Amino acid sequence: MIHAEARAIHVFRERFGEPPFLRARAPGRVNLIGEHTDYNDGFVLPIAIDRAVWVAARPRPDRQAYLIAADFGEEAGFSLDGLRPGSLRGWAAYPAGVAWALERSGVHLPGLDAVISGDVPIASGLSSSAALEVAFAVAWLTLSGREMPRLELARLCQRAENEFVGVRCGIMDQMAALFGRRGHALLIDCRSLETRLIAIPEEVVVLVADSGVRRELAASGYNERRAQCEEAVRRLQRRYPGIRALRDVSPAQLEEARAELPELIYRRARHVVTENDRVLAAVAALERRDLLAFGEGLNASHESLRLDYEVSAPELDTLVEAARSVPGVYGARLTGAGFGGSILAVVQREAVQAASEAMARLYEARFGRRPALFAVAPDEGATVHLHAI
Ligand code: GLA
Repeated sequence: MIHAEARAIHVFRERFGEPPFLRARAPGRVNLIGEHTDYNDGFVLPIAIDRAVWVAARPRPDRQAYLIAADFGEEAGFSLDGLRPGSLRGWAAYPAGVAWALERSGVHLPGLDAVISGDVPIASGLSSSAALEVAFAVAWLTLSGREMPRLELARLCQRAENEFVGVRCGIMDQMAALFGRRGHALLIDCRSLETRLIAIPEEVVVLVADSGVRRELAASGYNERRAQCEEAVRRLQRRYPGIRALRDVSPAQLEEARAELPELIYRRARHVVTENDRVLAAVAALERRDLLAFGEGLNASHESLRLDYEVSAPELDTLVEAARSVPGVYGARLTGAGFGGSILAVVQREAVQAASEAMARLYEARFGRRPALFAVAPDEGATVHLHAI
């Protein structure tokens, strides 16, 4: 049994004197390519990973939620009556936001007692917050005896984060946590929300290096990038009235309009517009098992994020540089919003050791501490199990 799952069940039994009524699991994600494209109606290619948030829960006869975060020994409680955006802070805002969004969509919820445990590193760019949202969404929905299409659940969790927690995230992370499949990446068209599963070749390993850097300004930097993309669309609409999002603009169209955009806005748009093309090229490369081309796309994505979108950091660039210096590494790039967090490297199985050592060595030489290194495997989206042992 996975450690975090066992811990959630163990703490639940200890605190409530009986086994949980259910346990829900929702995975974190690593985005292979397609960064900062989701909120531009573009394409993304994440994998759900074999690290997850677990929630062990039972219903309550009243409308109280009582939550225990087993990994950091904290507790939180709130009433389902009178939940308002901004009324809760910290980790409890995510489950509360999900409850708020579920009730607003017409699902009447019971109160619950719940214990949370997980092995998705927090604030590392691996979407522990989306995993927390989705785990509570499927748990609460099951306790209320209702069903809902997963697409609707993804939208609902995004709404919880946008409107209740106050982070303007896109929909990639919630989609990955709900639709991920073992052995596959998930191509998402973030406009239509159509998904396609893309097999990941057996011989490659996805290696993650967490820099440990958490930037205070990440949320404001993220929102600023979103606003810059919106400004690009507004200006481009004068020339191309039919466009609704950067998704609708081709690299050639952007070049034609270059003189009409401030330089910074042009560069932000260039990242998004070229990144969308890179996602589709990366999918084609995976489908014909051309890992060299796939890796080159990853490398180009990182350079675009570093130079045009400016969401990298010296720590991330160092990890990418070290990974790329090792034979058998196809490509490496930052994953998630950036400003800190993690990188991923796509590596031949035999090169995992050498790549890990190279990253640890260069990182330690430059920053005096070691990154956290671990391989991840593409895994299933969220699941609920009734009557845990
Ligand atoms: C965060 C957001 C996602 C996405 C990425 C950047 O993970 O939650 O919606 O925008 O950043 O690609």
